[in-house]
Amino acid sequence: MKRSSKTYLWVFSGLALVTLGSLVMTSHSHAQEQGALYMDIGQPLDARVEDLLSRMTLEEKIALVHADSKFTSAAIPRLGLPRRWLSDGPHGVREDVGPDTWKPAGRTDDFASFMPALIGLAATWNTDLATAYGKVIGEEARQRGKQIMLGPGMNIMRTPLNGRNFEYPGEDPFLSSRMVVNYIRAVQAEDVASCAKHFVANDQEWDRGTVNVEMDERALREIYLPAFKAAVQEAGVLSVMSAYNKFRGYWCAENDYLLNKILKDEWGFKGLVMSDWAGTHSTDGSVLGGLDLEMGTDVLPYGKFFMADAFRDGVQSGKFPKSLLDDKARRNLRQIVATKSIEGRSPGAINTKEHQAAARRIAEESLVLLKNENNALPLDADKVKSIAVIGENAVQLQHYGGGSARIKTFYEVTPLEGLVRRVGDRATISYSMGYAEKQNEELANQAVRAASQADLVIYVGGLNHRLLFDAESKDRVDMKLPYGQDQLLSRLVEANPRTIVVFFGGGPMEMGDWLAKVPAVVQAWYPGMEGGNALAAMLFGDVNPSGKLSCTFPKRLQDSPAHALNNYPGKDGTVRYEEGLLVGYRWYDTKKVEPLFPFGYGLSYTRFEYSNLSVSPAKEGKDGMLVATFDVKNVGSREGGEVPQLYVEDLKPRLARPVKELKGFSKVFLKAGEQKSVTIPINRSSFAFYDPARRAWAAEKGDFKILIGSSSRDIRLQDNVRLTQTTFDK
Ligand code: BGC
Repeated sequence: MKRSSKTYLWVFSGLALVTLGSLVMTSHSHAQEQGALYMDIGQPLDARVEDLLSRMTLEEKIALVHADSKFTSAAIPRLGLPRRWLSDGPHGVREDVGPDTWKPAGRTDDFASFMPALIGLAATWNTDLATAYGKVIGEEARQRGKQIMLGPGMNIMRTPLNGRNFEYPGEDPFLSSRMVVNYIRAVQAEDVASCAKHFVANDQEWDRGTVNVEMDERALREIYLPAFKAAVQEAGVLSVMSAYNKFRGYWCAENDYLLNKILKDEWGFKGLVMSDWAGTHSTDGSVLGGLDLEMGTDVLPYGKFFMADAFRDGVQSGKFPKSLLDDKARRNLRQIVATKSIEGRSPGAINTKEHQAAARRIAEESLVLLKNENNALPLDADKVKSIAVIGENAVQLQHYGGGSARIKTFYEVTPLEGLVRRVGDRATISYSMGYAEKQNEELANQAVRAASQADLVIYVGGLNHRLLFDAESKDRVDMKLPYGQDQLLSRLVEANPRTIVVFFGGGPMEMGDWLAKVPAVVQAWYPGMEGGNALAAMLFGDVNPSGKLSCTFPKRLQDSPAHALNNYPGKDGTVRYEEGLLVGYRWYDTKKVEPLFPFGYGLSYTRFEYSNLSVSPAKEGKDGMLVATFDVKNVGSREGGEVPQLYVEDLKPRLARPVKELKGFSKVFLKAGEQKSVTIPINRSSFAFYDPARRAWAAEKGDFKILIGSSSRDIRLQDNVRLTQTTFDK
């Protein structure tokens, strides 16, 4: 077997010996393993795993199923298994902490690219960009010596208030699935394991460590599970993280139904299930409930972990069958072998030009233009003489916030910096904060003065990663703009009607009366290290916005399903998802509640016309039973990107269904005047609902409408199709 050379870097810190570097491996040229099958990289994965397993002692197997520091599990030098490093997270490779605390390790080689938040990635509706994103994560993780990256998160936006909405791909299971599948494939193509998290129903941070979630089987199958299922079955994700909460009375980390029955038996998941950090509650429950790797439990030494000495003793006494431990060890080994941890990986790369370009492109396509009256945007750089930039988020660094998704970045271009780079040589740019951590009259007055003296205002506000906004462990308390921004915006637009509003934030915000008066509003999410450049390019028209909302913006919190039904954050320790399937646009459309900005919505600097829809049988060998074909034409004067969306309406459902469900989309780029034919495959699954009585997906004969829209509420074309046969799929 060919062996890559290993780097050994050791540093003494006090008395402790700390390993450093991306390719830290313990010595492993042992006579008995030379020539062993598992060392032969030409052998199939399963054969290598079985061979390795057959050589392991009980203690070694136990070492595989629990941590030996905050983010590692132990090396097994005798067999040449290096220490296994895990790392957050979804938006880049987190700075190192520990070994036994959450405190930063204080290293100087743990910087990483800071990518746009996943909610923004989803708003690109561009699956190629999910691939580009995953490649950055994978390459940087490899360079940093990480075997498992703890992401992507794929919990569904059930409430606008969830403090981690920014980390997740929004409210729709189909869009989420498409994005996470490409992300995961790209990470894993770099010999790094992804981790699909948090399985499942960790849809609020409030009480996340205790709350019990109750939902019906259809909501589980149709809304909350699809992204995980796609991660497992389409992307072959190598690990899954269980959620903190309980599901139907049992902790997610020891939930036989979720972990053993659904994930492993039904879906055929062969990877490992790890706990969330300190989300393990008992030895019996975890061992029997399907957990394979215990991380983050708040005890020391590590032998006291639930799946350490107590598990070993249980196997020795015959309380737990050996086969159970073997199964868990096998799942861990599978990830270890699949990520080439034994033979060693080639070095990765960090913050390359390509990574920066990917971050920029994703940020550009994630920007959603919510309002643009009388073509207020794009701005003409030759005509703007003075700009008053106002708002804390014009200068606020976002990378080191939000919780486990934080990044120690090399750089972050703020909006103010981006604007200065773009037009600083020809326009006078002033900056005023406008508000601080609370409403501040003096700051507001200064900002209003600056606004009245400039040609135009670029306001950059919204939310941030401070606790009670977009941050882990707590939710937002309401959907309003904090720090008196509504009042400030009313005053600014009064002082200068040319007020362009840009919001940061991981989800929807209520917007005050000022909305009717300002000419333009942009939703920027958290656009990452290239955010300021991307934003300036979009405001000045170098880039034509093509992002579409990955979540509905309701007019007010009470309009949104969980809140309308008073089912958040739960009563007596339980939250009941009584809205069932009606999450996001499924609720607003079915209940006819007018949103502020609908799901799938986003403006462009050009206009697109749709025509000639036909739905016909797919050609043999194509990946659909039917295919929707239609033309999209750019009828404006600028090049631009559009996202045609395909929704299916069941005209006479046997069981109640939302009025429409997203089942396909495409992102097309068109030059001015150009027309393209777009095809979107339609499968049996596009028509199916989950039939709890049969425990199967039912595509039932009957009539359906195929709706093609520029958003969920801007349907441009439609056609009827009839299914003549009923089919059931597992
Ligand atoms: C979060 C996980 C994260 C883990 C490790 C937990 O608090 O819920 O998403 O991966 O910490 O940092």
